[in-house]
Amino acid sequence: MQAQCNALSRGSRSDCRLGRNGGIDTLKSTVTRLGRESAKELLARIDSSAKRLSGREAREAVVEILNSGVPTYSWVGIYLLRGSTLQLDAWKGPAPTEHVSIPLGRGVCGFAAKAGRTEIVSDVSKDPRYLQCFLSTKSEIVVPIIHEGSVVGEIDIDSDQLDAFTTLDKEFLEAVAAKIARHCVPPSAA
Ligand code: SME
Repeated sequence: MQAQCNALSRGSRSDCRLGRNGGIDTLKSTVTRLGRESAKELLARIDSSAKRLSGREAREAVVEILNSGVPTYSWVGIYLLRGSTLQLDAWKGPAPTEHVSIPLGRGVCGFAAKAGRTEIVSDVSKDPRYLQCFLSTKSEIVVPIIHEGSVVGEIDIDSDQLDAFTTLDKEFLEAVAAKIARHCVPPSAA
């Protein structure tokens, strides 16, 4: 059971216990959010990937590290801003999204890109801007990727947990966005 418990919690704490029928009950509400130590370690890995890789490979590595490294990050995607449209680029999660192209200003993604600032939605069911991708999503964070003062893309993360994102996630993901910004500029502007 402990092995399954560890697999579920992946470095964070998720309380597991043996249920009455011998099965495993996971108290999902106790899954802890991103911690400082974890954020530091993940940022170091992303820094190393951003230095070693470039372009699409770097972006793929980042979504993989974020999705596998933080249990509450259920689906992680990078959108690139091309003209006035956000185009889905690298992503990692259990299923693809239908929202592969989002006009600037539409949805939480379009809003964050237009405003050039991070948006945290702690309960997506209460935000009229929200464009649904997955039935399981409960909260979302969108972090613009800014290169030389212009938004060139964004990191979009859906969580199956309500209220999954804190100021630490915001600071951490803004640092991640800064590290990969040069890998997100359109080829003609690079
Ligand atoms: N929920 C986003 C759309 C993108 S999916 O989450 C992958 C939005 O409201 O803009």
